[in-house]
Amino acid sequence: MRLKDKVAIISGAASGMGAATARIFAREGAKVVIADMLEQEGRVVADSINATHPGAALFMALDVTNEAGWQKVVQETVRAFGRLDILVNNAGISGSATNNLLDVELWHRVMAVNSTGVFLGTAAAVPQMQKNGGGSIVNLSSISGVVGQAFVHMSYNASKGAVRTMTKSTAVQFGKDRIRCNSVHPGLMPPMRTSGATADPEVRAKMLKSVQLGRAGEVDEVANAILFLASDESSYVTGTELYVDGGYLAM
Ligand SMILES: NC(=O)c1ccc[n+]([C@@H]2O[C@H](COP(=O)([O-])OP(=O)(O)OC[C@H]3O[C@@H](n4cnc5c(N)ncnc54)[C@H](O)[C@@H]3O)[C@@H](O)[C@H]2O)c1
Repeated sequence: MRLKDKVAIISGAASGMGAATARIFAREGAKVVIADMLEQEGRVVADSINATHPGAALFMALDVTNEAGWQKVVQETVRAFGRLDILVNNAGISGSATNNLLDVELWHRVMAVNSTGVFLGTAAAVPQMQKNGGGSIVNLSSISGVVGQAFVHMSYNASKGAVRTMTKSTAVQFGKDRIRCNSVHPGLMPPMRTSGATADPEVRAKMLKSVQLGRAGEVDEVANAILFLASDESSYVTGTELYVDGGYLAM
């Protein structure tokens, strides 16, 4: 088992890639906290994990933009499972929820969830990981954190670009504490709950032309990359970025 006895918090784990990651982490021996705003969906994911791995999953309500909420989730994780080894900053909202590419309100909302949410999670987890003697933080960026895109509000690119460089700051500032931090950059995946244009089959067909493997990715393909970076198999990997994009960024 690749995460035996590790304790992980995964934000946004009620859905999509976060839920897939929670399932794979539990399979590999971890205790997982499913931290999400979606209580009902989050509890369903936790229950389904506990059905096959009793006691492995716990749901905790969290809005990642809430600093006190993050502190509480970290405290309750330690109370329940004794430590914190892994944080996956996965919660996010889409930049294609509107067709108005100059929507100012969306800018603020996307930056708050996708960037500030990652910083707040890091700020809550690092002191606990310092106490533990180390840890691994995996931040979900995107291909959108590396290049601009025609159909996506620039807040999404900016927020994911911030995640990409924040990851390197975390690696530089806390490497001395044996805390590693890396970013994962999914490409064309099943649409997010909040996707607008990027859920449109015509837009997806256009994006697919840039995917060298000629198909969309699957959530487990991203979860497996997160698993590698969370586990001790990547013990000498920090401050780096892993593209899980079928070659989208290769050209
Ligand atoms: N799906 C894609 O095409 C794609 C591509 C690249 C990167 N990503 C990134 O991967 C991550 C996961 O995306 P997904 O496809 O699984 O999306 P999803 O919409 O299925 O899941 C996102 C989860 O985040 C949660 N969330 C949103 N705002 C939150 C908040 N304020 N507090 C707590 N939880 C909140 C949602 O409730 C949901 O459970 C996101 O960061 C996303 O930006 C997705």
